[in-house]
Amino acid sequence: MARVDLDGKPIEPMTICMIGAGGFIGSHLCEKLMAETPHRVLALDVYSDKIRHLLEPESLPWAGRIQFHRLNIKHDSRLEGLIKMADLTINLAAICTPADYNTRPLDTIYSNFIDALPVVKYCSENNKRLIHFSTCEVYGKTIGSFLPKDSPLREDPAYYLLKEDASPCIFGSIEKQRWSYACAKQLIERLIYAEGAENGLEFTIVRPFNWIGPRMDFIPGIDGPSEGVPRVLACFSNALLRREQLKLVDGGQSQRTFIYIKDAIEAVLLMIENPQRANGQIFNVGNPNNEVTVRQLAEMMTQIYSKVSEEAALDVPTIDVSSKEFYGEGYDDSDKRIPDMTIINRQLGWNPKTSLWDLLEATLTYQHRTYAEAIKKAVSRPVASS
Ligand SMILES: NC(=O)c1ccc[n+]([C@@H]2O[C@H](COP(=O)([O-])OP(=O)(O)OC[C@H]3O[C@@H](n4cnc5c(N)ncnc54)[C@H](O)[C@@H]3O)[C@@H](O)[C@H]2O)c1
Repeated sequence: MARVDLDGKPIEPMTICMIGAGGFIGSHLCEKLMAETPHRVLALDVYSDKIRHLLEPESLPWAGRIQFHRLNIKHDSRLEGLIKMADLTINLAAICTPADYNTRPLDTIYSNFIDALPVVKYCSENNKRLIHFSTCEVYGKTIGSFLPKDSPLREDPAYYLLKEDASPCIFGSIEKQRWSYACAKQLIERLIYAEGAENGLEFTIVRPFNWIGPRMDFIPGIDGPSEGVPRVLACFSNALLRREQLKLVDGGQSQRTFIYIKDAIEAVLLMIENPQRANGQIFNVGNPNNEVTVRQLAEMMTQIYSKVSEEAALDVPTIDVSSKEFYGEGYDDSDKRIPDMTIINRQLGWNPKTSLWDLLEATLTYQHRTYAEAIKKAVSRPVASS
């Protein structure tokens, strides 16, 4: 039976130029497109490890529909030609790890703004549709966080719910270099919006709210640098795998909503296949029902990992560290991030499904299966003396 869009029209196969296809979100999106759609993907990235299972062997059922191009969009003359070959470009490429925002602010700003500029320009000049990945960090802090701690207004959603078309973007001072990422993402959003308004660029902007799941980031010393600091899911997974305490930055009081990557990818597929409903829109994509503090996340992960690994948890599973100690000078954070879902519901009829418990159980089962043995070997290997 022919696949149809939300308005009942048949979906024509398309060619998608996916930049950053070798990352966490890209790998899940490529998997979905290969398994469930007839679309072709030109997959661009500097790494391909996370999509190798989709590229080899050549006997895979979708061979011929996915083509990997190893390139750095900072300096590669093939970029415009690849965008021209496609019907739609999806830009996922970015430095997007909080540990980098205040320690590598120049790289962060260049990656999230300057490097994205040619992608927007080529799409606009060649009349190609663009789906650009921004972030929920563009909202910065909530209005509620400026109210006195005991103010009853803090409980009023008007002071914390984040709405695409109404909420302000509130960042810290320039010395708080943590906001380099959010600010660069905001400026590229404004540029894309202006290209739409002035030059007719067909665009969709996605603001992910903490998408998590298998293949997110890396485990330091196993499939990434030993000194690297990945995002919270991988940091906590790494500590659990090594039987170390989970580090809670500034008491782990920040509140976050986590969504399972597979739920979020459903939303992206709807955007891809329903351009008339997605063009000109900015979409929050998150799960407002899965809100916890980072401390609660650590506690849940500890409990679930103990179940999955069949090993008792440490007596004191967490330890408090200051943000200065953990991230260095210039760190700051958003207090709370709950997405308003009105626009994505209205345009695409999409809702997330997976509870936090279930998504953590699926993810930690994957982490345990993938890394536990490698970590045991790495820990037991004798250290060479100099
Ligand atoms: N995962 C989340 O919850 C989340 C939250 C907010 C925003 N985002 C945004 O979504 C996008 C994808 O995030 P992700 O979690 O998959 O990150 P990721 O780091 O796993 O993937 C990004 C990919 O882009 C590639 N890349 C970076 N610079 C490149 C360049 N110059 N040339 C070619 N490739 C380059 C990297 O190699 C990597 O494979 C990013 O723009 C990020 O800011 C993600």
